[in-house]
Amino acid sequence: MQVIILPTPKDVALYAANRVEDVMKRNSHPVLGLSTGSTPIALYNELVSRHKAGWLSFKHTTTFNLDEYIGITESHKQSYRFFMNKHLFHLVDIDEANTHLPLAASLEPDILHQDASSYDLSISSSGGIDLQILGIGENGHIGFNEPTSSFSSRTRIKTLSKSTIAANKRFFKEGEFQPHLAITMGIGTILESKVILLMATGKAKASAVKEMIEGPLSSMCPASVLQQHEKAIIVLDEEAASSL
Ligand code: GLP
Repeated sequence: MQVIILPTPKDVALYAANRVEDVMKRNSHPVLGLSTGSTPIALYNELVSRHKAGWLSFKHTTTFNLDEYIGITESHKQSYRFFMNKHLFHLVDIDEANTHLPLAASLEPDILHQDASSYDLSISSSGGIDLQILGIGENGHIGFNEPTSSFSSRTRIKTLSKSTIAANKRFFKEGEFQPHLAITMGIGTILESKVILLMATGKAKASAVKEMIEGPLSSMCPASVLQQHEKAIIVLDEEAASSL
């Protein structure tokens, strides 16, 4: 695990954008793993700027997102498909057919289970993820792999923890339905990525960051599993690193 501490969130985003650009330029058909939440927005803004400046084309890029809520449609403003379209996909030259998020449109458990396992198959048939971008939840989750998730888990349905629902409440309007289920790439699926880059910024992440880096390998802090990945890079701003 390589830990990089930079002064500001902007520096974290620029560092991550350089790594993404590098992977996109080295591979004729790059496969990126993407994440949502407020942390990667600055990274996507930077990638969009580089695309608009003519430095970066997404024409041959394939993407797989970590997770999607169950119980809201893709057109819902809080769906992760909506988020990705708004912050990246609709602003660059990516072929929409090459952008993948777990299909969470059905409420039928059997269909959802099938969708989850076919997601892992699509990732492997694409040749695997060259670079996976991750954030971290305040409780140490990655994707929606909440504490106690198995380190060998595959893409599947997860019930969100109370603390995750509380942390993400800010994105939903007062009284609006907030999903408590999601489909998430499993930890085992994430670990198959060739390189993993986890971004964390702000004081609220300091305790989870400390657990991930200095704590024991523990399913109570799912992100601690990254200690075992050969090419995991953790990029922090000073606030997120302040408890190390
Ligand atoms: C959600 C996402 C995670 C993300 C986390 C942190 O729970 N499923 O992938 O890392 O939020 O988001 P933020 O960057 O907004 O703190």
